[in-house]
Amino acid sequence: MMIPPFLSIDPATRHVSLDASNPAFYRDPNAVYAALHAHCPTFYWEQQKQWFFTGYDHVNSLLRDRRFGRQILHIASREELGLQEPDQHVAHFDLAERYSLLELEPPEHTRLRTLVNRAFVSRHVEKMKPELAELANKLIDSFEKDNEVELLSAFADIIPVTMIARMIGIPEEMGPQLLKWSHAYIRMYLFGRTREDEDGADRAAKEFSDYVKTVIAERRANPRDDLLTHMIHTEHKGQYLTEDELVSTTIVLLNAGHEATVHQIGNSVRIILDSGRDPADLFKDEATTERTVEESLRICAPVHIFQRWALEPVEIDGISFKRGDKVSLILAAANLDPAKYSDPLTFKPDRNEAANLSFGAGIHFCIGAPLARLELNVILPILFERLPGLRVARTPVVKNVYHFHGLDRLDLSW
Ligand code: HEM
Repeated sequence: MMIPPFLSIDPATRHVSLDASNPAFYRDPNAVYAALHAHCPTFYWEQQKQWFFTGYDHVNSLLRDRRFGRQILHIASREELGLQEPDQHVAHFDLAERYSLLELEPPEHTRLRTLVNRAFVSRHVEKMKPELAELANKLIDSFEKDNEVELLSAFADIIPVTMIARMIGIPEEMGPQLLKWSHAYIRMYLFGRTREDEDGADRAAKEFSDYVKTVIAERRANPRDDLLTHMIHTEHKGQYLTEDELVSTTIVLLNAGHEATVHQIGNSVRIILDSGRDPADLFKDEATTERTVEESLRICAPVHIFQRWALEPVEIDGISFKRGDKVSLILAAANLDPAKYSDPLTFKPDRNEAANLSFGAGIHFCIGAPLARLELNVILPILFERLPGLRVARTPVVKNVYHFHGLDRLDLSW
């Protein structure tokens, strides 16, 4: 297995040096993941100052391991862990994240997740199939005659935000504004974020929260058949959600609800076109469509890394972690583990191997997975069927960020 020139691995110490801002890496991270699998699947990333796991079995079991958590301050103080006090310039962002499902552990996590879960189960989201197909068709109508399109702005950007806004009960005309807030907000999760990113994210968090509060007030006065009304009026063991919990939950659903899915629509279309396979075969029926979608999620996932805190001293793969250490799990690399997948870097929708880990596992398993899967399974066959001869018109531009993996543009013609 070749090691790319910009990657340095010391198998003896398991130390790896890799600049995440190097375009050669973030444009094609799969090549690096393959080299890591071959030489050093568990490694200390010098620039990130943390241990990373790429092995499928390690990532899968760590996601489920209750000795690790998304949160640590529920069991230890900042002082005890030697953590800095929170930065004041991101106070609005921190408040918006305070009750994010993604940042909680049981029992708070269980309570919040139970309240929203019902809206996201497959049999509920399945009902959105006709309106999803209608939206995809309407968007294609608007550019079909042009014989070319930039797919992200004309199609991929619009569908997930429209669907999640409808579910929550946010007026659809807010779509463009929601996208702006969300783009600014998620810059906080990027490697190498700048002070400017932090200020932008904090501003977005404040504006976003203020806006959500006005919608909450409106729904309290005039209940409707939407998720926000449901969250306001549903109690769990005699307790209602507080205003801050409602705001956090709404924001995390809106952000997570479209950002990853937008990227995945672009990634899937690109992978399918690059594979040279006949779309008529790939989308022959529902079962083949599902395999095509899952294989594109495996080989080109939109969000590569999730982190965990060690909640107690624990040893994994010969590495000792103490309480308060952070570990990173590279889901997109686990999806390429040669121990689980034959010829892992090749798009093979007919493979019958391990399920991909792109939606995580365990108690934080993506609550939106049934919705995201429905979106991909409904809109991709429509796109390929309506635009026969679809092809890539210009080399796609991968976003200049790690660890989100998506395209800036996907120019297509037919
Ligand atoms: C292709 C699209 C998507 C991918 C690849 C994805 C991926 C993930 C992953 C890997 C996690 C687990 C994180 C962890 O374990 O730390 C997660 C959690 C989550 N996702 Fe998604 N997601 C997608 C779409 C969505 C959608 C459409 C929604 C919203 C409706 C959503 C809402 C959430 C929420 C709220 C959580 C936190 C769940 C919890 O902590 O209990 N995601 N997602």
